[in-house]
Formats: sequence, structure tokens, C-alpha cells
Amino acid sequence: MSGAVTKTSSTQYIPLFTPVFNPIWTGNILKTGPCNRASNLLGYCQQFNEMPSRKDAMSSYDSNFYELEVLDKEFLNNSVVRLRMVSPQKRGMEYQAGQFLNIELADGDVRSYSMANVWANDGVIELHIRLHKHGKFSELLRTEIEPGSRLKVHGPYGNCTRVNPASTSSKILMLATGTGLAPLKALLEQILEAGSKNPVWLYWGGRGSSDLYFSKQMRDLENAFGKFHYIPVLSNPEPAWSGEVGYIQQVAARDHPSLNDDYVYACGAPAMVNAARVILTKTCNLPDQAFFADAFGQLVTGSVTPNQLVKVSMHGPNGQSTQLNLPEGSSLMEALRIGGHIKGICGGHASCGTCRVNINPKWVEKLKPVSHAEKRLLTTLDEFRSGDRLACQLIVTKTLMGLDFTIPDHLW
Ligand code: FES
Repeated sequence: MSGAVTKTSSTQYIPLFTPVFNPIWTGNILKTGPCNRASNLLGYCQQFNEMPSRKDAMSSYDSNFYELEVLDKEFLNNSVVRLRMVSPQKRGMEYQAGQFLNIELADGDVRSYSMANVWANDGVIELHIRLHKHGKFSELLRTEIEPGSRLKVHGPYGNCTRVNPASTSSKILMLATGTGLAPLKALLEQILEAGSKNPVWLYWGGRGSSDLYFSKQMRDLENAFGKFHYIPVLSNPEPAWSGEVGYIQQVAARDHPSLNDDYVYACGAPAMVNAARVILTKTCNLPDQAFFADAFGQLVTGSVTPNQLVKVSMHGPNGQSTQLNLPEGSSLMEALRIGGHIKGICGGHASCGTCRVNINPKWVEKLKPVSHAEKRLLTTLDEFRSGDRLACQLIVTKTLMGLDFTIPDHLW
């Protein structure tokens, strides 16, 4: 038995995380370590699609929790692993192409990954996971997670799913770097399976050809579907490379100088997503609302150097009150999660609602305004009340000194 994974003779488990309310915790630890964000989903959500089941899915913590069993683990190149999982029980996690899930680690930390395949009745979920040198989950993947291991999974999250193009002549451009391919592959499968008449271009970028770990599969799809075009682009190619060289957004803009009636999905490095949005909307006349990327840009991180503790008052069930000293610089969600006071299951991406707090009316006006994304999520949650905020969207700074808030009963 290791600290992270418990093994039995037949099955391996990632143990369940049990939040513990610690009324004397003073929160004077600033969490450091690998970023929680998915390596394969970074960007800025420009448009949301309605998902009617969302309210039900998020109405209780357990309703979007699944224990999934690893079917197989395959290295796609030196640093990308394909993990396929399935629910050992009947209840599988249904999702839409373009959504992501969170894997909960033993210490409550989460890692977010996009589903790389379209949902099917067999319930198999495919993830493409980039391994990081000192990553906590990467290490588990290298050494402990094997077929038969069980993982705690929450989801699905995210609203950047497929939209139906206004016209069958509208082009669909997909731009991915690295494992940003994963959600676009799922969307692509969905589009092709549906027999869409819209032409689709996939621009996939990497430094060298080994980064494009699914090139053969993409070529096979291109050969099978006449309306699908695959354009690999390398920024630092080997001498033998005869394909496109440069950055995918520039190659796409060159190939498609007019995108007035078309759609773009971008997924990968934030720099690429930002650059793609600018060049395609400004130069190629792509409408802003036709540019889709993932919601991970909603992640709020502090830019403040932690140099003091901020005292806040937290109230729980039955009027129970606690004074906490939180470190400057982290989000309120992170600071509370370290103490086990809230879950923050989506890792701060304004997607789960498990970090909801209700702000004392005296403080409501003093906080930064609610963003569009935050409002959109809050108003879908059960029992939404005036003064509700997502703790993941608030940074702990000294302006919050004396903040007074309540954690809703059902989140304890
Ligand atoms: S942590 Fe999920 S919405 Fe804030």
C-alpha cells in the first residue's frame, strides 16, 4: 500500500477523499505545486450552449460523482498517455463531446481532462493525458495506475459543445496544439458520425512530428471522410518534414481568408487560443460568437505576493462561526479547500458550483462584480440566493479583510 493508491489482490483504488471540518485551522499555508488545470484544455470560452440537465447534474455533490475503472493505459508518445476507463457499475457518466471531467486525488486535489471520444453505449471514456516531470497525477500514472485501478471522477463539466452550423456550406475549423486534440477529436467524431455535410479542417500543431501522436488516425479519418481535411503544422520540424511549418493560427488564416459564415473551435496553449481568436476575427472576419474555446480561461489565479494573512468570518450550519486567517494571493476557493471547508471540484473553472458561498449583504457591493460566466453558473444552481458568489472567482487580498460569508448547508 502506498500513500496514494491502495491495492488489493484484484483491484487498485484511489482512495476516497473525506473533507474534514477543522474549526481551528487558520489557513496560513499557501498551497504550491503543479497547476490543477488540464494540460489539454486551456483557453477562453467565448460562447456557451445550454445544457438542460445541468441543474440536476450539479444539484448535489454526489450526482456527478463516478468511480471508474481503468481499462487500459497506452503511451502515445514519450509524454502523452491514453487512459481508457469505464464504470464497473451500470451507471456511466454520459457527456457531450467537448466536455471535461475531474479526477480527484487522495488529497482532494483535482486534475481536469477532456473526453477524447464521443459518448457511446459502452460507456468507455478516453482521455489523452500529458505527463509532467514532477506532476502528482503524472507520477501515479507512471507508477501505480494500471488496468483495474479505480479513480474518483466528477463531471461532466463545460459548455463548449457542438453548435449546429447555420448552413451546410459553413466551414468548421478546429485548431489544436498538443493534447488540445482530445476534445476536438470527440467533436470531430460526433460531426462525422452525424453525417454532417459541413466541411471540417483540423489544424494540429506541435514542435516536432512526435508531438502529433495521433497523426495516423487523423489521416485515416481524412481518407474515410471526403469532407474532413487534416493539416499537421510543426513549428520546429525535422529536416525530413515536408508539411506545413509555422503556427496553426497563421496557416489557418492563410488558408481561409474569409470566415464570415464559419465556425472555429480552438483548444490548446492559451497563447495559441488568444492569437487564433485575434487573427481569425480581425483578419478573416470570423464573427466573435463563432469562435469557441474551452472555459478554463475562467480560472482565477492571484497575482498578489502573499505577505499577510487576511482574517475572514465563515459561518456554517446552525450558526456555527469560525475566524480564518487566509493567505493573500490564492483564490478564496483554494484557501478554503486547503482547510477542507469546501470541495471546489472543478478546480476553479466556474463549472461545478461546489465552491458557492453566500456573502454578507454588507460585503456584496465591496467585491468585484460578478462576471458573465459566474452569473451564468450561479443562476443554474438550486436555491440560488442574492449574495451568492463562487469562491473560486474571488482572490484573497487585503481588501477582503473582515469578509463575512456563509457556506450553504448542503455543501458542508
Ligand atoms: S470550484 Fe467549481 S465553480 Fe468554483
